[in-house]
Amino acid sequence: MRAFLVAIDGPAGSGKSSVARAVAEKLGIVNLDTGATYRAVALLSLRDGVAPDDGPALAALAGRVELDGAGVRVDGERVPGDALRTPEVAAAASRVSTHPELRRVLVERQRAAARSLGGAVMEGRDIGTVVLPDAALKVFLSASADERARRRAAQTNREAELDRIREAMRTRDKRDAEREASPLVPAPDAVVIDTTGLSLEEVVERVVGLAAAARAEG
Ligand code: DC
Repeated sequence: MRAFLVAIDGPAGSGKSSVARAVAEKLGIVNLDTGATYRAVALLSLRDGVAPDDGPALAALAGRVELDGAGVRVDGERVPGDALRTPEVAAAASRVSTHPELRRVLVERQRAAARSLGGAVMEGRDIGTVVLPDAALKVFLSASADERARRRAAQTNREAELDRIREAMRTRDKRDAEREASPLVPAPDAVVIDTTGLSLEEVVERVVGLAAAARAEG
């Protein structure tokens, strides 16, 4: 049987991670978070002192990263999620992810992870456009900038820093959308859902419904 693959893309704070996790659970398949692979390279680059503009050196770091349903491993060792979710790592991940050399290596690893499974919900920025162009269902989540900053502040218990979070998000969005290599754009065949004002449950229900329809068709 062909693997059932769902692609979920969208900007930071669009609810991608929570939606992907819940949808994967409801469908009984694995959730693969590709952002963690870019964050792992960013963490390695900060630890090893690799310059964020040294594409070939970053691509070599990417060769040490593996993705699975539980997250990422570096040199075979599990990387704790907390280490990947700091603001420093997020900012560095956005910078390193502009390099095509490094993206080529990580995209291969992401595809290998999806291929090894019977089905998966894969989330990121370029899943529907580049990583899994044949996915049975492609969803692109969006939300207003204010709402996305509020969600991220609440998630990380940093409500007092809302203005700073909104500004950091704006810088990251701009870089992700304007980069030449795999910019953040919806695939032409993606279903775009504006999640502003919708609850997590409402979005999950909508995506699960779309997945059921896609499964019945395929
Ligand atoms: O989804 P996230 O916040 O964990 O992603 C971290 C960074 O990695 C983000 O700035 C953009 C980049 N990224 C990417 O370029 N392509 C992906 N498929 C996933 C993430």
